[in-house]
This record gives sequence, C-alpha cells and structure tokens, in this order.
Amino acid sequence: MEARIAVLGGDGIGPEVTAESIKVIDSIGRRYGHRFDWVPGIVGGRSIDKSGIAIDNNTLNLVLGADAVLFGAVGGPKWDDPVAKVRPEDGILKLRKTLGLFANLRPVKVFPQLIGSSPLREERLKNVDFIIVRELTGGLYFGKPKRRWENSRGRRAVDTLSYTEKEIQRVVRVGFELARMRNKKLHSLDKMNVMETSRLWREVATEVGHEYPDVELIHMLADNAAMQIVTNPSIFDVIVTENTFGDILSDEAAVIGGSMGMLPSASLASVPRMNGRRRRGGKPALYEPIHGSAPDIAGRGVANPLASILSAAMMLRWSFGMHKEAKAMEEAVDGFLAEGYRTADIASPDQIPLQTTKVGDMIAAQVGD
Ligand code: IPM
Ligand code: MG
Repeated sequence: MEARIAVLGGDGIGPEVTAESIKVIDSIGRRYGHRFDWVPGIVGGRSIDKSGIAIDNNTLNLVLGADAVLFGAVGGPKWDDPVAKVRPEDGILKLRKTLGLFANLRPVKVFPQLIGSSPLREERLKNVDFIIVRELTGGLYFGKPKRRWENSRGRRAVDTLSYTEKEIQRVVRVGFELARMRNKKLHSLDKMNVMETSRLWREVATEVGHEYPDVELIHMLADNAAMQIVTNPSIFDVIVTENTFGDILSDEAAVIGGSMGMLPSASLASVPRMNGRRRRGGKPALYEPIHGSAPDIAGRGVANPLASILSAAMMLRWSFGMHKEAKAMEEAVDGFLAEGYRTADIASPDQIPLQTTKVGDMIAAQVGD
C-alpha cells in the first residue's frame, strides 16, 4: 500500500530520533512492498522562531492531508520564559485538539535486557507489561476559563477541569477494547473522593463496563495507582485515566523500564480495533515518543531513537493495519537489546554507547533482511 506521512521532528533531539524512524520504515517498505511518502513540516520552537506561532496553517494543512503523523518533540530553554505569550508546547496541544486525538496509548514494557537500568528491584519487574490510555483532548489542558489576572489582592490564575459524559465514554471504551485484546483487566483511575469530574468518570466507566462483561473493571484512586506503579506494577494490564493524571503517571511508569528513551505512544481519534484501518476521510493519528526534546543532549548524536522507532511501529499497526510489519520492527528492537547494544541512556559504565544514527542503521538492516 501507499501512505503519506507528515513528519514533524520539532526541537532538540526530536528531528534526530525521527530521522532514524524514517530509515527503519523505509526499510520495511522495501521489504514488504509498501511506499511511504514523507512530508516534512515545522512545529514548536522552530516554528516560533520562523513565524511567531508554534504551528501555522501550512503545517496544519499538511498534517490534515496526511494519513498519519510522526512527531518528534518540542520545547527548549530558549522558549521557556513562564510569561511568554507563545510556547512550543502549544504546537502539540493544537495538533491533538485539531485532529481530535482523544486517546493516547502509552505501552509500558520492561525489557528483560534492561532490568539492570531500572530504579526498581528486579523482583518487582517480573511480568510488567501494561498500557496507559490517557485522555488527551479534555480536562485541565483545555478547560475554560484558563487565564491569569491581577487585582488589588494580588495575582491569581485559574485552570478548569471539566469532562462531558461523551468524552469519558469514548476514551473508556478505548480502554475496554484494548483490554479485550490483552488480558481483560482494566483499571480506571480517578479521585472520586475529592472531585466531581472523577465521580462522573467512575459512574460512566461503570456504565460502559456493562458492554464489556468479559473485561474486569477495577476502579482505583489515582494516588494509590501512583504507589502501585512502583510497588506492584505487574498488577496492571490496561489503565484508563484523564489527561493530567495520565501525563504524570505515564512519566512515572516510563522510568520503571530503565529509560524514558524506550517508550512510544500513539494518539488516536477513534476506538482502535484489531484489524481496523483509518476510515477514508478521517483525520490522521499521531505517533510520538513519550520523552521530550532533551535539549541538553541535542545535536550530539547520542539520543536513543528506540522510542521513536517503536512509535513508528505503532503507526504501522494502528493507522495502516500492518501487523506483521509492526511486529518485525518490535522484534528488531528486542533483538538489538538482546545482543547487548546500548545507547548512552541505558549503557553500563563500562560500555561504549552507540550513536543515534548507528542504532537506526542496525534496526533498518535487521528489518530489511
Ligand atoms: C506529554 C508531554 C506534553 C503534555 C507537553 C509537552 C505539552 O508532557 O506528551 O506527556 O503535557 O501532554
Ligand atoms: Mg508528559
């Protein structure tokens, strides 16, 4: 098949890791007879420098005309002034909203080869393999009012946490669908002891659960879940939660595997089905590593591209229904680690880490055989 993919590398290490994914996907294309057309666009700090906004209409149009989006990362110290009018992060937030990407899938896997790099003790890491479904277009990120002001009593700011039942239903359904494809266990996280939105969340999750009698639904308070993720991570199969909880808990979950540099993500605008392809005329999904732009190591060629490569594998699976191709990529990453190859973030002190481009070359060669 043929696919048109918008590539938004962004800032810092974003473009470096994304380039390696392109290499690997092109190799997949040659091996399996697909054609991938790459359309580059500007986003984030680079876009602010060029046009004063984090994403302009050129980039948005290019994205809307694509079948999928491969995203790098945005942000950096240059644009970090807390009172700045525009921020690189506005670029990704605008994309999520414009494309209606309400479901963010963040798989958390502990590669057995990397157990030594985890901050957790080995016995806690057995059988850790879960996926966080983070609501991505609602909650505190987008709720209105959102502003700050000043009066005689001083400065004040407000963000708004708001959810409609429809917003909750559709993302919880994603959780149930994924649980059905996996071990049939769904943890829905909230703070129903404190928040009205959480009480609605719990109620709606329970209702949707009636459509999935084969899946075990477990409600858990989000703070308790934060503790379980580091003490008992193997209890989880699928987690579904609102935007801000999902943001925080997915960073926590990411490091138990040893490095932020390993975890991919997919942001979808519809409920994923196992053999589903993108509906004609639908908006494209977006794939990005969960790590940020890492400005401290940008340009040095040492970034770990595996999270981006694994995100590209998710793209093949969820946007194009290319399951065997996605699996080939994931197996190549597994094999690479099993052989003992490491990038700087996961290398032991006595090891010489591989450069970013070398990793891409090796994985591309592996999937191309
Ligand atoms: C993430 C990031 C983003 C978020 C930032 C860059 C806006 O932390 O994707 O988790 O908060 O959603
Ligand atoms: Mg985050």
